[in-house]
Amino acid sequence: MTDTLTPVLSENWDRERAWTLASYEQTGGYSALRKALGQQPDALIDLVKESGLRGRGGAGFPTGMKWGFIPQGDDKPHYLVVNADESEPGTCKDIPLMMASPHTLLEGVIISSYAIRASHAFIYCRGEVLHVVRRLQRATQEAYLAGHVGKNIHGSGYDLEIVVHAGAGAYICGEETAMLDSLEGLRGQPRLRPPFPAVAGLYACPTVVNNVESIASVPCIVNNGADWFNSMGTEKSKGMTLYSLSGHVATPGQFEAPLGITLRELIELGGGVRAGHELKFWTPGGSSTPLLTAEHLDIPLDYEAVAGAGSMLGTKALQIFDDTTCVVRAVLRWTEFYKHESCGKCTPCREGTWWLVQTLARLENGEGSEQDLHTLLDLCDNIMGRSFCALADGAVAPIASSIEYFRDEYLAHLTQGECPFDPEAATLFAAAGAYA
Ligand SMILES: Cc1cc2nc3c(=O)[nH]c(=O)nc-3n(C[C@H](O)[C@H](O)[C@H](O)COP(=O)(O)O)c2cc1C
Ligand code: SF4
Repeated sequence: MTDTLTPVLSENWDRERAWTLASYEQTGGYSALRKALGQQPDALIDLVKESGLRGRGGAGFPTGMKWGFIPQGDDKPHYLVVNADESEPGTCKDIPLMMASPHTLLEGVIISSYAIRASHAFIYCRGEVLHVVRRLQRATQEAYLAGHVGKNIHGSGYDLEIVVHAGAGAYICGEETAMLDSLEGLRGQPRLRPPFPAVAGLYACPTVVNNVESIASVPCIVNNGADWFNSMGTEKSKGMTLYSLSGHVATPGQFEAPLGITLRELIELGGGVRAGHELKFWTPGGSSTPLLTAEHLDIPLDYEAVAGAGSMLGTKALQIFDDTTCVVRAVLRWTEFYKHESCGKCTPCREGTWWLVQTLARLENGEGSEQDLHTLLDLCDNIMGRSFCALADGAVAPIASSIEYFRDEYLAHLTQGECPFDPEAATLFAAAGAYA
């Protein structure tokens, strides 16, 4: 554990026109690609396994192990699909990375595709962020013109085509199998597993789906080695990562640090909680991870310790809420999001998120009864683990945890017959949400 920042992915972000190929190459960009093309694909898979890199898209699954599941020696095409759909409230690391340095991602895409023997790679980008789509398209064009992508890359005999695909604005398309259906031109809804994408993914062929940050971390591992990468972090959570600090902090933003740094250290680096106020609650990894409170400030932010505290590291989207925030209102807002984004494929989520919103809205207005809290927890119990995909598990996470930590605040709404927070506080919450 450390309290110092370790800019690796973000090291070139403040360079002038950092997003251009010229700027990227001036800082050693694409040297990892040349090094990788001189190695056997299997050696690269072993390198990523040894590094301990775990997926940065939320679940923390070991990246090298995922690549190792791709059958080799089969006669089917292999695909790499980069998950750049970043749509969860609070999660905001992939978009800045792609805006500031799209070539870091592209270099990672080419090396990763070579490792899994894929000749086509897709970057599935959230369609609403048109500026990011355009930046990726321009960077891909530059990479083609420079010979980093296309036929016979740098004389290696390896061919790769990269497609930048813009999604149509559904959060569920970030779920990896819904993303594959969406890429195939179908309505984006999760697929039944097995078969897993590694065996039957895009067009029923072996496919690796990885998050933007996971793939962008590959070039530095190739350049610096597995030992360098796993010298950072904690016992089972290796390397550096992007922590996104948003909400009621003096200086919100991206903080790249080794896994295991604490929220206390990050808030200090962010200039502290908004002047004159105290930390009330926070999310460790976006709105789909159970809330934590000030008593959890010193928990190492790695996969194991955050799970031990009853939450999940998720996307490391640290949304900070101070004492002016009504937790019931905040949770209601998130639940409205999940209700809107439920794809409707399975009943517990489609119907359950609707009932969750109705019940929470009543409580927030001070119109419900204490029985509504039991109803909410009962609904959560019937949705959690009983739905088709993890969207529904994410929807109940803030509700159950907020009742665990702030039951008295829910009851105060009932006692007063209205929200006990003044309207100005609501405005402040809206301002905090603007960072999300
Ligand atoms: C509703 C839902 C939305 C998701 N959205 C994203 C997303 O925007 N980006 C992402 O990388 N992973 C997202 N995931 C996780 C992906 O399904 C998948 O686990 C991830 O892309 C794997 O990449 P990784 O192993 O590199 O983390 C989402 C999952 C669910 C259930
Ligand atoms: S849990 Fe929700 S989002 Fe997932 S398949 Fe069911 S209805 Fe769709």
